[in-house]
Amino acid sequence: MEIAVSQIDLLITHAGQLLTCASDGPKRGDAMRDVGAMEDGAVAVKDGVILDVGENEALEARYDARVTLNAQGHVVMPGFVDAHTHVVYAGDRVAEFEMRIQGATYMEIMVAGGGIVSTMRAVREADVDQLVAETRQRLDAMLALGTTTVEVKTGYGLSVEAELKLLEAIARLDQSHPATLVPTFLGAHAVPPEFAGRADAYIDLVVGAMIPAAAAWYARSHFARQGTPFFCDAFCEAGVFDAAQSRRVLEAGKVHGMLPKLHADEFENLGGVSLAVALGAVSVDHLDVTPDAEIERLAASDTVGVVIPAVNFNLGSCHFADARKLIDAGAALALATDINPGSAPCPSLPMVMAIATRYQRLLPAEALNAATINAAYAVGLGEEVGSLQPGKRADILILNVRDYRHLAYAFGANPVATVIKAGAVVSP
Ligand code: NIG
Ligand code: FE
Repeated sequence: MEIAVSQIDLLITHAGQLLTCASDGPKRGDAMRDVGAMEDGAVAVKDGVILDVGENEALEARYDARVTLNAQGHVVMPGFVDAHTHVVYAGDRVAEFEMRIQGATYMEIMVAGGGIVSTMRAVREADVDQLVAETRQRLDAMLALGTTTVEVKTGYGLSVEAELKLLEAIARLDQSHPATLVPTFLGAHAVPPEFAGRADAYIDLVVGAMIPAAAAWYARSHFARQGTPFFCDAFCEAGVFDAAQSRRVLEAGKVHGMLPKLHADEFENLGGVSLAVALGAVSVDHLDVTPDAEIERLAASDTVGVVIPAVNFNLGSCHFADARKLIDAGAALALATDINPGSAPCPSLPMVMAIATRYQRLLPAEALNAATINAAYAVGLGEEVGSLQPGKRADILILNVRDYRHLAYAFGANPVATVIKAGAVVSP
């Protein structure tokens, strides 16, 4: 009997381990240990979208592909989603790295006028072309390491004009780089020097001028046309913005259609998790010093908790967010790099998995789900990316290992052999 063979663009064959990470919502609890693994699998792609996922033999019989990629027994998995980054900036902070080695703390450097404000100076001096050129190199590195979707925050401009410049750079990079970018407005990242000692007056500017300007920018942008969400975030931290100031920012963002996110509990607990949950935030990020009662509150909510262990590692700290407790309590947990010039100059989600498995006691499977499907939900794209499921965008990695646990077991080398974005090979 003749079997009808259908024409497709791409068939990835002979995946020794095919990991789907499939889920209809962010994974919680025991589901985090399930990466949806299948032996000798294949993935069929048409028009940039996953058409079918299943056993190799069945898919080879069913489809006639224009291009076939033989994974030769290696792992095939969804592209990574980096749920928290500050990847658009100018310059570096390598001098502060040496200051920290000699004993200064991250917050001491920030209070002394370095830190975020020193990158602000470099960003204010740069034009959009320079921001795009410097950031493109970092996005290339992230793509080669398997990251196909990247949340990107502003927050190094800290004036209406410079924040809009960062948003413009994000839009240009999204349109010219293979990675998918998701924009977040973070005007409330630090108090700029012209508002020193007047944080409330700066929040007045964020709420009264920056958020309306950012919302108008988004409405004109290709992001709005294609339905990419737009987030609003604030750095809720002792010495930066308190919970009341953060609330003003996120509420104003909501009025303008921006979805809330929050930096909370990185150094001190100011009740940021409760605030984020109360505002219906899509994610609340860092969670290094979140007390048990707020872990329970997060676990009972739809807000995704994003932990960022590359920051603790980079700051030479042995204290990490209690990601184990977050998963065991039932919270939806995601991992991110936080790539930025100060607290985490790290493009690599495999490296973040390596840290999370050792210092946060996640199993490799939990770290993998946290950096794919749950990270996709943390950026509002859980229905489009983050897993290998029919109908999702064909963002797919072929690794150079045969067992996905090697992603976290080994570290320092790149485990990604081939990156496929919307059905096309984009790296190497
Ligand atoms: O997530 N915490 C605030 N923002 C970044 C650091 C940015 C910087 O140091 O430039 C973070 O760690
Ligand atoms: Fe951050």
